[in-house]
Amino acid sequence: MRPLPNWPYPFWIAHRGGGRLAPENTLAAMRTAARLDYCMVEFDAKLSRDNHVILLHDDTLARTTGDARPAAQVDYLDLARLDAGAWFASEFAGEPVPLLEWIARHNLANGIACNIEIKPCPDRETETGTLVAREALRLWDGATPPPLLSSFAEAALEAARAEAPTLPRALLLENLPADWRLRAARLECIAIHLDAQWLDARVIADIHAAGLRAVAWTVNDPEQARALARWGVDGIVTDALDSMAVQQA
Ligand code: G3P
Ligand code: MG
Repeated sequence: MRPLPNWPYPFWIAHRGGGRLAPENTLAAMRTAARLDYCMVEFDAKLSRDNHVILLHDDTLARTTGDARPAAQVDYLDLARLDAGAWFASEFAGEPVPLLEWIARHNLANGIACNIEIKPCPDRETETGTLVAREALRLWDGATPPPLLSSFAEAALEAARAEAPTLPRALLLENLPADWRLRAARLECIAIHLDAQWLDARVIADIHAAGLRAVAWTVNDPEQARALARWGVDGIVTDALDSMAVQQA
């Protein structure tokens, strides 16, 4: 049994900022999380062509802005003209693709902890890990809790560790490969963020025994959330911001 790492993070984590209630990865999403008393948000960060750290889930801008280009081929000033809210609902029209800087300032001012998922465009893993970590270090500037950096891309986490070793890291996994302990240890992660379908009491106990915290994504059923809480999970990422008993947690 290894000791569990310090875990200064709230239990409930709003997925992509506002889950299903606001356009993902926007300032409006962060405002929604704040309004519903969420004290932590998860969002996806990647680079524009000219290396600005922006929030965007997909490799291309198509789904959330209607512009078919890959984000990696667009400079920030060009990106800044796009509408990342209208696809979701007309009331959000004009919502921009945000810089990490805006999101950090908003969430720091509102006491909202952040899980920055490093989501590199193809073949940009290392530079994205480096630049997201560098920007996170600059923006949080020692504020607590520090942003938790997670990624499916281990090369990005490796680069983040090299750039900002003091920022905590979490290994994101779609399932539990046989060598998960080794992978997490190599990157000096403090947590495993695992697809909730693979988490049960035994798996959570195994993760804890390895000296790691366990976070479940993405849980939208309150009954499943209650079971995960009973089994000792350390955090739950949810889209169902309006269905979870956040204030009681
Ligand atoms: O960080 C958990 C979750 O966001 C991972 O999946 O595709 O929603 O970024 P995705
Ligand atoms: Mg994500």
